[in-house]
Amino acid sequence: MSNDIKLAAQLIGNGELVAFPTETVYGLGADAFNAEAVAKIFATKERPTFNPLIVHIRDISELEKLFVEIDDALLKLAEHFWPGPLTIVAKKQQAVPDIVSAGLDTVAVRMPANQTARELLKLSGKCIAAPSANRFGMLSPTTPEHVQKQLPELKCILNGELPKVGIESTVIELCQGEFKILRPGFITEQDLMKVLPQSKAKEANSPIKSPGLLKSHYSPRKPMYLLGNEPEYSANKKYGFLAFSEVKNPDKYHQIERLSTNADLGEAAANFFEALHRLEDSDVDLIIAEPVPETGIGIAIMDRLNKAVYQYRGK
Ligand code: TXA
Ligand code: MG
Repeated sequence: MSNDIKLAAQLIGNGELVAFPTETVYGLGADAFNAEAVAKIFATKERPTFNPLIVHIRDISELEKLFVEIDDALLKLAEHFWPGPLTIVAKKQQAVPDIVSAGLDTVAVRMPANQTARELLKLSGKCIAAPSANRFGMLSPTTPEHVQKQLPELKCILNGELPKVGIESTVIELCQGEFKILRPGFITEQDLMKVLPQSKAKEANSPIKSPGLLKSHYSPRKPMYLLGNEPEYSANKKYGFLAFSEVKNPDKYHQIERLSTNADLGEAAANFFEALHRLEDSDVDLIIAEPVPETGIGIAIMDRLNKAVYQYRGK
């Protein structure tokens, strides 16, 4: 782990990888315009190359290098939500390497709000392509320790300002002034509609799909079930419980991780991956997760939870 942002920026410039904090989760970054460097991200994460990456920028002026068209809708969203946890997918410039966009004619871009990320972008002078810094399909990292646990071979894991949001950015596709949510996050459909009121959050007949939206993802290395869908109780097993708020029967569980003290969804999101990492690292045999209300950022939490339990959704 390192506090040396200057060195990290040099590594990016030399085509090496750096794990760095953003306001959402830790990213695993490389120079977005260096295809060989970006290839190392896929190799390190063991991520399939059909899954495109998000390009992180520091300044709106960098958009010209990435998008073919910068229209009013894009500028409004950028002004309103950047720096912040919103990723915008739109038609890409040819110069953006195919490996970044997984061969699509679009690219995903966001401007992170985290100070350490912004400093790294500034000192390196590069656009940085970065997925979450976890091994493919595993829990997303929100601390440098989480990154080290999953990717111990990395040379540079930056310390610095820790993620605050706790789950990944909202990803939207923007096409002719209309948006479609590809991955729910902290910024909700209602938030977006306030800025683009004429846009009717598009559905169906959109040609662009998000290849990274797999059914199974974000999984701890232990069986995990949604509450109500767990196998029959067994006295010789240790149960971990991921609770939203108050726990009615705490004696049933060996370890309880409570996401929020007062049923606050923002607080729950901020604690979500941390709590799951603690349960993954504990000696419980399996994890039971309580569903959260599906409103606001609760939609994003349930999206992650449903993917995390996907392989265990049958009894
Ligand atoms: O908060 C975040 O977004 C974090 C931090 C590090 O910025 N990054 C992150 O990256 O979550 P990743 O790679 O784990 O997720 C990127 C998502 C994937 O679901 C991917 O399929 C989608 O964005 N995506 C990227 N480029 C796309 C494109 N051109 N079209 C559609 N979806 C795209
Ligand atoms: Mg990810």
